Amino acid sequence: MSIGVASDARGRRERRPLKQLFLIAFAVLLSGCAGVQSALDPAGTEAEAVATLFWVMVAGGTLIWIAVMGGFYYATRIKREPHSERAAGRLILWGGAVFPVVVLTLLLAYGLSLMPKLRPWTAVAEEPALRIEVTGEQFWWRVTYHRAGEDPVVAANEIRLPVGERVVFTLKSADVVHSFWIPSLGGKMDMIPGRDNTLTLEATRTGIYRSPCAEFCGSSHALMVFSTVVMEPDAFDDWLAREARPSPGAKADGLDAFLRNGCQACHAITGTEANGVIGPDLSHVGSRDTLGAGILQNEIDSYVALIRRPDVIKPGIRMPGFHGLPDEEIETIARYLKGLE
Ligand code: CUA
Repeated sequence: MSIGVASDARGRRERRPLKQLFLIAFAVLLSGCAGVQSALDPAGTEAEAVATLFWVMVAGGTLIWIAVMGGFYYATRIKREPHSERAAGRLILWGGAVFPVVVLTLLLAYGLSLMPKLRPWTAVAEEPALRIEVTGEQFWWRVTYHRAGEDPVVAANEIRLPVGERVVFTLKSADVVHSFWIPSLGGKMDMIPGRDNTLTLEATRTGIYRSPCAEFCGSSHALMVFSTVVMEPDAFDDWLAREARPSPGAKADGLDAFLRNGCQACHAITGTEANGVIGPDLSHVGSRDTLGAGILQNEIDSYVALIRRPDVIKPGIRMPGFHGLPDEEIETIARYLKGLE
């Protein structure tokens, strides 16, 4: 009697951590269903198709699992005497061959029916209304906007889109394989050196979404991120027009310090003599959502840290550190850059 009680108490003690573990695992699973970087919280037509396909598969898989478990329970607990050979053969034929063929064919047909939504813009010969060229580089993103009939606009580390418009992306790489993925908007596509890949996305909801590089590309792969800002069409047009105008940097204090330290060898600022193409274009860097390709707040301290020790913030970065410069000089450049809106 006393042994029974003890084992019961122990059993309950052992079950509690298991329950907690299950709840924690469930909470972690659920947390993947929402947020700025979730394919299950879609904000674009392609992502909606992918999320619907996912939930249909989960529901179908769950139903089949319940049916199989029911059959298993029936066979082991209820019907204890063995089947006749013919009944067993029928069960194998229907349950093991016909059922999977029918279910898999239906799922294949359903999956294929979603394909037109996920297809890139290849059938149309003329230039789309908005095409964005994105080049993956270790460890940042070069972004160029091509609006039909207008000059290209160069930016970096952030993508802005008008809501409700199908946008074509041309994806490239300057060095190794990277991968472009805006989980909230749609599918993922690799950026391969020497090759132009095409992806078409249409955002259905305004907001700011997060995109990490989705292919290991070197020591700072995990620090290669960009934001996608989906805006109302009018706001997007205003933003693009502002982005196309020369940078305020030609007249701002601090340009001397920027040029005196050779920053223009790698970076461009429109309207000034800085026209480097190795690093990100800085013409309007002050107005970007983040700094350092999605890893720092866009504020003076971040510029100071990045200029002083870029190798600490982003191991493997090609930018040299300027830790030999006086603090005042670095702060002047930082304030100058933050002011470029
Ligand atoms: Cu770029 Cu990983």
